[in-house]
Amino acid sequence: MKDKIDSIIEEINQFSIEDTQALEKFRIQYLGTKGLLKDLFGELKSVPNEEKKEVGLLLNGLRTIAEEKYNTFKETLDAPKATASSIDTSRPGEDSSVGSRHPLMLVRSEIIEIFNRIGYTVSEGPEIEDDWHNFSALNFPPEHPARDMQDTFFIQNEGEEMALRTHTSSVQVRVMENQKPPIRTISPGRVFRNEAISARAHCFFHQVEGLYIDKKVSFADLKQTLLYFAQEMFGEKAQIRLRPSYFPFTEPSAEVDVSCSICNAKGCNVCKNTGWLEILGCGMVDPAVLEACGIDSKEYSGFAFGMGIERITQLKYKVNDLRLYSENDVRFLKQFTGSL
Ligand code: DAH
Repeated sequence: MKDKIDSIIEEINQFSIEDTQALEKFRIQYLGTKGLLKDLFGELKSVPNEEKKEVGLLLNGLRTIAEEKYNTFKETLDAPKATASSIDTSRPGEDSSVGSRHPLMLVRSEIIEIFNRIGYTVSEGPEIEDDWHNFSALNFPPEHPARDMQDTFFIQNEGEEMALRTHTSSVQVRVMENQKPPIRTISPGRVFRNEAISARAHCFFHQVEGLYIDKKVSFADLKQTLLYFAQEMFGEKAQIRLRPSYFPFTEPSAEVDVSCSICNAKGCNVCKNTGWLEILGCGMVDPAVLEACGIDSKEYSGFAFGMGIERITQLKYKVNDLRLYSENDVRFLKQFTGSL
């Protein structure tokens, strides 16, 4: 009996079912009221008592195999097939969803447009920089902490030590080395720092550097340019204030705050109740930097500024976690559909 069951299993596996007729033949042969399985269950009576349990289990297994094969083939054979007449060619098409521009790119374009309107061109430089362009030409002393491995990613390139640029100020060096004043340019780009990733810090982010070099450029020109930028970006009521600061490449240097557009400078948790938000660093280009880049500091002067695109975007769109910018979660990105 056991051998018989085995050979029937084999037979079932071999049985080829290509159409509904073969399927019906299979059903009659194995599962029908006069089918093989019925006979076998009938024979169970004559099996010796001590073997009954085992043979019963085998028979149940055989039935499952046969039923499963039958059901699977029935499902595939019953599935409706697309025929020429079942396709409705007059149905309207389905809309393909429209993508959106990344918020950082929206703000980057807006910054470029604002400065284009007052004659600034766009310059770009490499993300992998040498020490000269990222540090030395910008007056960073050899022992400056920013040169430390803890802040800067260093890489080896054909035996030479290179850095992933830590700021876009490196591009102002390249521009000054290659162009004669007057120079009026902004440099948007990605920068890298060796920081642990959190809501407030990331190992890469974006900056826009600004540079203006000409005869008789003054600090008043810098202030007016930044006020113009703040009002174009945050609305005509925006005000700025400058706080004295220090950067190796500018003298004097300042940090610039814009009046909080979220609470109209009344004080809220974003501006920590001060009414002001820090947006950029700036200053008059240090004569030593002009000279390092081949520009006569007695004839020319200029200003520079640098801002973080993430920061401006945070203020414009109220994005409070830096990680959202690079996670590419469509629920976040979709909110910018339709913005130009
Ligand atoms: N490079 C500075 C930074 O990454 C930002 C900066 C400050 C740029 C002052 C400037 C400047 O051009 O004048 O933090």
